[in-house]
Amino acid sequence: MSELREKALELIDQYINNENLKKHLLATEALMRALARKFNENEEIWGIAGLVHDIDWELTKENPEKHSILGAEILEKEGFPKEIVDAVRIHNHIHNLEPKTLLEKALYSCEEMTGFIVAVALVMPNKKLSEVTVERVMDKFKEKSFAKGANREIIKKCEELLGIKVEELAEICLKAMQEISDQLGL
Ligand SMILES: [Fe+2]
Repeated sequence: MSELREKALELIDQYINNENLKKHLLATEALMRALARKFNENEEIWGIAGLVHDIDWELTKENPEKHSILGAEILEKEGFPKEIVDAVRIHNHIHNLEPKTLLEKALYSCEEMTGFIVAVALVMPNKKLSEVTVERVMDKFKEKSFAKGANREIIKKCEELLGIKVEELAEICLKAMQEISDQLGL
């Protein structure tokens, strides 16, 4: 394991208590690694950005307007590469910061797909990722009353920002999550 990933996991231990949030971070890392491979980008940098992107979630629960700003500060202080710090800061869309690099665009538009796929897995008969298909994810994506917390408008931005259809994102994300299903407990 890289030194940077080790450091990221240490920070997670320090800042995150909620097991589901830890799983969300691992799922986002897996997705970001898969996207980096697709775009021929730095897999380690993209993966770690996914792994730490919600590092301040529990600290900012009462102050959602601080979410991602505080996280970026923590990561900067810990010496994380600037491209990771910037991508983390920008990913919270309530700040209306414009994602500029491909890494920023990917984290901004794609990370909510992991939570969406968890929601789909949880309504399958055995609640397993292995039962989920891309077709099922897309059916649920169109069903407005399902997993209302997932911001479809942000996820759909992958089309203009990355040039990939939501369906392709769902496929990449599902496969990446299925590969670590034991760690996700799904
Ligand atoms: Fe997140």
